[in-house]
Amino acid sequence: MITKRPRRNRYNEVIRSMVQETALELNDFIFPLFIIEGQNQKVEVASMPGINRYSVDTLLDEVASCVELGIKAFAPFPSIPENLKDKYARESENPDGLFPRAIREIKKNFPDVVLMTDVAMDPYSSDGHDGIVINGEIVNDETLEVLGKMALTQAQAGADIVGPSDMMDGRVGHIRRVLDENGFHKVGIMSYTAKYASAFYGPFRDALDSAPKMGDKKTYQMNPANSREALIEAALDTEEGADYLMVKPALAYLDIIKLLRDNSHLPIAAYNVSGEYAMVKAAGLKGWIDGEKAMLESLLSIKRAGADIILSYFAKDFAKYLQK
Ligand code: PBG
Repeated sequence: MITKRPRRNRYNEVIRSMVQETALELNDFIFPLFIIEGQNQKVEVASMPGINRYSVDTLLDEVASCVELGIKAFAPFPSIPENLKDKYARESENPDGLFPRAIREIKKNFPDVVLMTDVAMDPYSSDGHDGIVINGEIVNDETLEVLGKMALTQAQAGADIVGPSDMMDGRVGHIRRVLDENGFHKVGIMSYTAKYASAFYGPFRDALDSAPKMGDKKTYQMNPANSREALIEAALDTEEGADYLMVKPALAYLDIIKLLRDNSHLPIAAYNVSGEYAMVKAAGLKGWIDGEKAMLESLLSIKRAGADIILSYFAKDFAKYLQK
């Protein structure tokens, strides 16, 4: 005789939704955006069907259509022309550069949206690295100077949250100091705390032409084999003043999201990265999987693992799904 029957709680849709433990909301999402120079530009990223690179004018239309759908937070990334890149990422401190211009325009037209801006040298670096390269080495402390100035430039342009994504040691503390010394104590820091040296960033580097010109990022991004190390990074970021901890990528690192969730009281974010988007999209477009269901299931898994905030290229698709 079977008396315990877990299937009773799955008997119909009403019961299933009553016992549902996790639900996605549009409020959970931050939508990444790619920005290019020029006018009236909208160029699809070949490896990310449905995701475009926008010039500042068309970007404002894109933000408007997202706001209309209920998306309130964005993570813009600039694609810097090759001739403006140098070893020291100097263009990242130019207040009239593409990125600060885009930030100002978005905030001017949409004062209520939240902008989380990426702090890392790679889009501006002629070496394609997240740090200054000296004799083949990615140097740490000299890089912090650049990151501090970059974060300040973004805060002055109107960024609400800065997101250091470079994995240099001491960056959160340095950026916090620079922001505070300049009166930007209200600007938050979402630290890319556990960012792994991952193959899943490929399409993003296509979008920004930001791939390393030599070597890889393994001396600063984490080894995918390690989880305890994520706790060391989390403790340091917390001590240095991070307001949010992020895990990146998300799907191959759900255990790390859970680990940080269980060991921190800070909000945990997860970055559902470009390669994760590309895989689901490509298989969906080929008809090999149901793309929409696979999207919903993977986003839900990120939330279930413990993420409060999800950065995802699927944010707009998810918003459209909610309106159906
Ligand atoms: C820059 C940065 C990267 C991503 C976000 N910020 C690329 C990298 O570290 O090489 C990847 C995002 C994605 O793949 O969607 N440091």
